[in-house]
Amino acid sequence: MHDDWIHPLLEEARRQGLERSALPFPEAGGVVRIDGREVLNFSSNDYLDLARHPHVVDRAREALGQYGVGATASRLVTGTLPIHEELEARLAASKGYDAALVFGSGYMANAGTIPVLAGRDDTVFADKLVHASMIDACRLSGARLVRFAHNDPEALRQRLEQHQGSGGRKLVITESVFSMDGDLAPLPEMARLSAEHGAMLMVDEAHATGTFGPHGAGLVREHGLEGLVMVSMGTLSKAMAGYGGFVACSSTLRKLLVQSARAFIYTTAPPPAVVGAALGALDVLEASPNLGNILQANADHFRNLLNKAGIDTLQSRSQIVPVVIGDNNQAVAASRKLREQGIIAAAIRPPTVPPGTARLRLSITLAHLVDDLERAAAAIIETVQRR
Ligand SMILES: Cc1ncc(COP(=O)(O)O)c(C=O)c1O
Repeated sequence: MHDDWIHPLLEEARRQGLERSALPFPEAGGVVRIDGREVLNFSSNDYLDLARHPHVVDRAREALGQYGVGATASRLVTGTLPIHEELEARLAASKGYDAALVFGSGYMANAGTIPVLAGRDDTVFADKLVHASMIDACRLSGARLVRFAHNDPEALRQRLEQHQGSGGRKLVITESVFSMDGDLAPLPEMARLSAEHGAMLMVDEAHATGTFGPHGAGLVREHGLEGLVMVSMGTLSKAMAGYGGFVACSSTLRKLLVQSARAFIYTTAPPPAVVGAALGALDVLEASPNLGNILQANADHFRNLLNKAGIDTLQSRSQIVPVVIGDNNQAVAASRKLREQGIIAAAIRPPTVPPGTARLRLSITLAHLVDDLERAAAAIIETVQRR
């Protein structure tokens, strides 16, 4: 076996405090039992606590009973079932677009869509902090990649002007709620700038879907920017509690994606139970339009407790609250200390976040009661300040 090259790589990651492991976690959810003890999990993206919601589980079970465990083929062969079409129609209506296309995951939605929007002769302008799935998609597209300073419309304007004469199509990409900082993009300014410079705008709403906007439709809809944002991408695996990804767009673009998005074409269609669960989550959002507001009010309360104690949570304005520690090993030690107190707050290290900004990333969910948030805030303040 020619694997001598592997050990030095693993050793180097360990030396830099960057070793990663996928340890089993006993159950999903915001409040879980580990060894008979109640533990508050702040590292789940099940923001609306829907993963075990009876209606969501019922709809998944119904789809499982009706169609079986798998779609058994890719979408363009015989994998498109009536519930795939039903889900796409519901997502399009929710997001305020003519059409939507579901992919196997959020990663695949980005990997499939960006290379259709931009190719070798084109330029993509990406916020410095966009998610790895968007960056990988840009690399796959072969387009020229230009980064601009995080959430800075002036920096975007300069970049667009610098590349005014470069020919080809232009695509601006950003997230609406940033996954590791929890801050919000200045979408109206970005939409205006993109339109002025003849650039398409694609917004990744992975962390805004379900958590912001009317019935959880996201921030593009909240700002009424459907006419200026060409693609609103979302995932079904965070607030929607299951698995899968999608884009909402025009019917014309959907047609082109069906022809050419490789991550849509060359893979098996999402399994029926997962599609049923997403429909169940949409039902819950329609019936309870306030869930996102309650979540954001709880997140504000939690953030205020930390800020009052002098803890910096960057520009977070969402259910994602970062507590920056800086050093990789210290971030891991803080996470371990909190775990001993029954609080799960994963340490996020480079390359997921920029070097020197290792942090605890806390996700507030509706599984957390106000008492839970106050207990966690007290433990975090104590742990971070006693370092
Ligand atoms: C901003 C952003 N986009 C895309 C994704 C990928 O979504 P999924 O987990 O559904 O593949 C994630 C999740 O990690 C994300 O945070």
